[in-house]
Amino acid sequence: MKQERAPFWEALVAYHAKGIIPFHTPGHKLRSGPFTKIEERLGSGFFALDPSDEVENPDLDHDFEAALKMAEQLAADLFGAESSLFLVNGTTGGLHYLLMPAKGSVIIPRFSHQAVYSAMMLSQGKAVYLPTAFDPEWLIPLQPTAEQIEKELGRGGVEAVVLTHPTYYGTVADLESIVSCSREYGALVFADEAHGGHFKFAAELPPSALESGADAVVQSTHKTLGSFTQTSMLHANNAVWFNKAQKAQRVLQTTSPSLVFFAVLDEVRRILAEQGQELVGQALGLAWECRSRLGEIRGVELLPGSLQGDPGKIVFSLRDLGLTGIEVERILRVDYNIQVELSDYYSVLALVTLGDTPKSIGRLVHAVRDLAGRRRHLGAKGLERCNMDMPELPPIVLNLREAFFAEQEAVPLQEAAGRVSASFLTPYPPGVPVIAPGEQFTPEIVEHLRWCISINWPVRGIVSGQKVAVLEDNDRFCRT
Ligand SMILES: Cc1ncc(COP(=O)(O)O)c(C=O)c1O
Repeated sequence: MKQERAPFWEALVAYHAKGIIPFHTPGHKLRSGPFTKIEERLGSGFFALDPSDEVENPDLDHDFEAALKMAEQLAADLFGAESSLFLVNGTTGGLHYLLMPAKGSVIIPRFSHQAVYSAMMLSQGKAVYLPTAFDPEWLIPLQPTAEQIEKELGRGGVEAVVLTHPTYYGTVADLESIVSCSREYGALVFADEAHGGHFKFAAELPPSALESGADAVVQSTHKTLGSFTQTSMLHANNAVWFNKAQKAQRVLQTTSPSLVFFAVLDEVRRILAEQGQELVGQALGLAWECRSRLGEIRGVELLPGSLQGDPGKIVFSLRDLGLTGIEVERILRVDYNIQVELSDYYSVLALVTLGDTPKSIGRLVHAVRDLAGRRRHLGAKGLERCNMDMPELPPIVLNLREAFFAEQEAVPLQEAAGRVSASFLTPYPPGVPVIAPGEQFTPEIVEHLRWCISINWPVRGIVSGQKVAVLEDNDRFCRT
């Protein structure tokens, strides 16, 4: 089948056109009926195109299972994979399917998204963490180097390496070197490409993880390519592992996936096949324009290109005008009705994609120029610089999954040294866990967390009253 077709979209539209009287799920019976407010906002089409997949019937020209297979194959062809899966539970679901079959050690950077951690809880594999280094000027997490990964591979027993390509901030690793040294040690390479689905469509962007030789990737099509929120794709060039991931999908995914989600993924793929380069190219053009206009504003600094592979992630700071990124995010929202993607101590990240227009870029530039002008007028002084000294990774005494489900109790943080954590404790930003379930609190970690709390740095996972969740039965797992 050719890329200009969208078999799943066409099957769904064909089913609707038949006007079949539905005595099947879903209960809304393809009509907005009493749900008038929903219809007012979403139109009746949403209901009309939302049958369950129970209605598959090859004789009636709407064999959804066959159409899905064709649509997934077209996606695989477009993204340079042997096989693909459409996902209705985001990249989170895809990472779960990919890692659930793991049995050996899996190398993961400590800054990985929580979906990678939860995937490790589902698997029988053992997480081997790479500590996170931060850029001292911008305090953003840096990618691991091939040397770091090779050192861990050398310890033996590594089944897979899971990289984030790119990070939230658009930072990329030297994937080709990492893939080639992983191959030497017989380890697979998977990429969390949640933020990199568009890499394929522009030569000026870094190569996609598949182009760099990764075995499988998961992309949040909804994040950078325009499909509905919740919809992602998994692409694989390793048939054995793809089959395992597909089996995992069968047991973990809902048995009633939204056919609208599949159809939208299919139609978005069709458009990308036709116009992907043009659309992503236009978005990058807008991003460059935005960067150059922001860069001209006195007091506004942009994350240097040496730290970023993706110009569409516009990371900028007003620290010389005395504002933290968190404050800039709030002011942009409250005073200018603009919501950025994320903020941290120094910077904010404004995401520019194929959904942007010259007008949206103009609004952002105007707001930042106005805000910077106001700050200069007030004679604002530069922000106090700070370090991101993470304590060393704690010893692991129990695997993630066991610790997560074990009996737990809350103890005051200052009494936690020597105890085994039952939860993640994550200063946010930057969202890198200081301790994970199954790891033992060191005095250094307790001190670091107390310091975060003392300066009002939000720490996710702290129980009220500055308590932390620890395993009840500490003696079984370690001596204090
Ligand atoms: C790096 C990274 N990986 C995975 C995910 C999960 O993606 P999804 O929201 O598509 O489940 C996210 C979401 O923010 C992410 O930032």
